[in-house]
Amino acid sequence: MQLTQTLLLTILAASGIVCHKHQKTKKFEVEYEWTYINFTWKSETDYQNAINTKTYIPENNAISGFKFYKDSFYFALPRICSGTPVTLAYFSTKNTTPKTGPLLIPFPDWKTNDVNNPSCDKLVNVQSLEIDANGVMWVLDATRQTPSKCPPKLVLYDLNNKGKTVHTYIFPDDVCLHNGGFLNDIVIDDSDGTFAYIPDTSFIDPGLVVYSKTKNRAWKLRDASMFPEMKAADFVVNGDLVNKLYPIDGIALSPKVSSGSRRVYYSSLTGVKLYSIGTELLKNEKVFSGDGWRRNVEYVGTKQAQGDGMVMDNVGVLYYGLLPLDAVEKWNTNEPLKKAEIVDQNYKTMIWPDSFCFDSSGNLYVLADAIHRLLLTNCAFNSSQNYVKYRILKYFTGTQSYLYRAK
Ligand SMILES: *[C@@H]1O[C@H](CO)[C@@H](O)[C@H](O)[C@H]1NC(C)=O
Ligand SMILES: *[C@@H]1O[C@H](CO)[C@@H](O)[C@H](O)[C@H]1NC(C)=O
Repeated sequence: MQLTQTLLLTILAASGIVCHKHQKTKKFEVEYEWTYINFTWKSETDYQNAINTKTYIPENNAISGFKFYKDSFYFALPRICSGTPVTLAYFSTKNTTPKTGPLLIPFPDWKTNDVNNPSCDKLVNVQSLEIDANGVMWVLDATRQTPSKCPPKLVLYDLNNKGKTVHTYIFPDDVCLHNGGFLNDIVIDDSDGTFAYIPDTSFIDPGLVVYSKTKNRAWKLRDASMFPEMKAADFVVNGDLVNKLYPIDGIALSPKVSSGSRRVYYSSLTGVKLYSIGTELLKNEKVFSGDGWRRNVEYVGTKQAQGDGMVMDNVGVLYYGLLPLDAVEKWNTNEPLKKAEIVDQNYKTMIWPDSFCFDSSGNLYVLADAIHRLLLTNCAFNSSQNYVKYRILKYFTGTQSYLYRAK
């Protein structure tokens, strides 16, 4: 039935009978791309100094996470290698032409991004961010795989009030290791108080962190479902063997519904099993002193490959990358997982689909960043080559992020 309908629509479209209100793309299309991540320097002298002192080594700068708000993309730039002067930045799509190599603007400013700034109010190493429905950006400055005197933190900036810092929370060592923590992604739940759910991809103490904004407290769940799966180890992405063992990594939150609880979905990067857990449980810190809660971890099913980031829209469709396949897959969570299907696959442009976001016009964006090249080689890969390494690709879904109620 569906096939016949599709066929009919294709014929009608080809004959020009069906007019689309929106120009819908059937596949992901490259919207922005970079060979090197570069910034709006204060002056030519500043830029030259940064180059000469190796404060800025162009090929070492990467983007790992992004979100869209109003007209701008906001980026997390992990400090995996040296020569990375900025760890949080944005650009406005309004004034951005051409779409190749747009310069990023440090957020909130250069000083806060300065590694030599002695204050721990600076941003040390940002991996991920989310922007809530009120325009408050939640920034995870909590990758501490190398020692830092500044503890891991969550910083909230109000984008509707000149990016003012509205809250800072320092994670205690028993929730996120001050030496070895790796808070990798974040989803926000503003039903019954405000909560954030955060995977800790730490090699030493992996787990799922819950942060209650109302209580200003965080707690952590540790479970075997959050470990790397040995059977899923050693996979190849674009010719490179990924042999590190990564635990829990991708996370998504189901949309707000009028009745019933929301669910958090997660998966290990070195893994193919998808799990979920109800938010009513996550919100109850006391439950985790015992072991009984583990019964509520649901094994959802097996994906066809390992993946990194994921996102859910506001009608319950989950999108996630399939790393060895250079692909993005979608699964309508109202149907069995085996009905999931690949949306697009491209071994040239979709190398390591890492992070996802929605705009408010029904578009889904994916960031393909080939981040494994930096991670696997400890920055020693031949990065001097002048090829495109980072891409933002766009796909029309007609939906919005899980943060917004469906109309
Ligand atoms: C970075 O941008 C500056 C302008 O802000 C430009 O002068 C410089 O050539 C760029 N460098 C790279 C490596 O793209
Ligand atoms: C790195 O790539 C550049 C540009 O393609 C090439 O000229 C150079 O020989 C390469 N270096 C190594 C060590 O492979």
